[in-house]
Amino acid sequence: MSDRALAKSFDLNAIDLDFITDPYPTLRRLREHDPLHFNPDGSVYLTRYDDVQQVYQDKSMISDKQAPFAEKFGQGPLYTHHTTSLIFNDPPYHTTVRKLLATAFTPRKLAEMESLIGDIVDDLLDQLDGAGEVDFVSAFASKLPTEVISFMLGVPREFRERLRGFSLAILGALDPVVTTERLDSGNNAVEEFGALLSDLIDHRRRNPEGVGQGEVLEALIFGEFEGRRLDQQELIQNCIFLLNAGHETTTSLMANGLGVNAGLKFHHWPE
Ligand code: HEM
Repeated sequence: MSDRALAKSFDLNAIDLDFITDPYPTLRRLREHDPLHFNPDGSVYLTRYDDVQQVYQDKSMISDKQAPFAEKFGQGPLYTHHTTSLIFNDPPYHTTVRKLLATAFTPRKLAEMESLIGDIVDDLLDQLDGAGEVDFVSAFASKLPTEVISFMLGVPREFRERLRGFSLAILGALDPVVTTERLDSGNNAVEEFGALLSDLIDHRRRNPEGVGQGEVLEALIFGEFEGRRLDQQELIQNCIFLLNAGHETTTSLMANGLGVNAGLKFHHWPE
């Protein structure tokens, strides 16, 4: 098959392990021969920087995914989560959540966290000392961001171990093709994680002074934008999103960074 024909026949909903392991030849073919690619289901896959940039800046483009998510997830926890978190929403709701979050992510507030992050790194490295062979993802790459984001949301230590499992289950359900088992585990993860966060939010509401921890949670619960506060469901789902967005991405960044530097190749493929 010619490169052009290969590019045209690409289907994002049917990617295989070869694509996950080394997507670059496919992406290059798409960029060169079919940059505005239509998948068989009608969705569009862009591979050129300028095109993506244009879409991101075009105000007529929307992030709302209620219709496709209703079809994919049905009504249930995954649907509620992915249609309530800010990422799949548009103004005015998106603006409200974004403004509230922004107050917790100012350069000053982040600078205040530097020494905490340094302490966590030192602590994790100390634990590796003399350990011999270790799994970098579970021993370091997943722990560092989990600790930091848990601190920002005030997630108690005893729950932190479970966050990665929740996150993989919830984000994994966004893959183009998912089995019923993975949908079930995603739905369960939203429910369990949601219940945990709901208790945390209630506790925080009753203790508005806090102890300096959970800066982000505080901004989300007590913050107000144009007279609007977030309700309990919006709070829960955006906290879940933040924990997922804040740690899974960074874990992969560190693991892939280390792998590339060591001349290794990693891939993540759902079990
Ligand atoms: C290597 C690390 C990261 C990568 C690669 C990454 C990637 C992304 C991407 C691609 C988006 C935009 C998705 C879209 O709109 O289509 C996004 C949005 C977002 N990310 Fe990250 N992210 C990273 C780390 C983080 C961290 C550490 C946090 C928070 C602690 C975070 C919080 C968010 C939030 C809140 C949004 C939604 C923004 C909005 O809709 O206005 N991310 N991220």
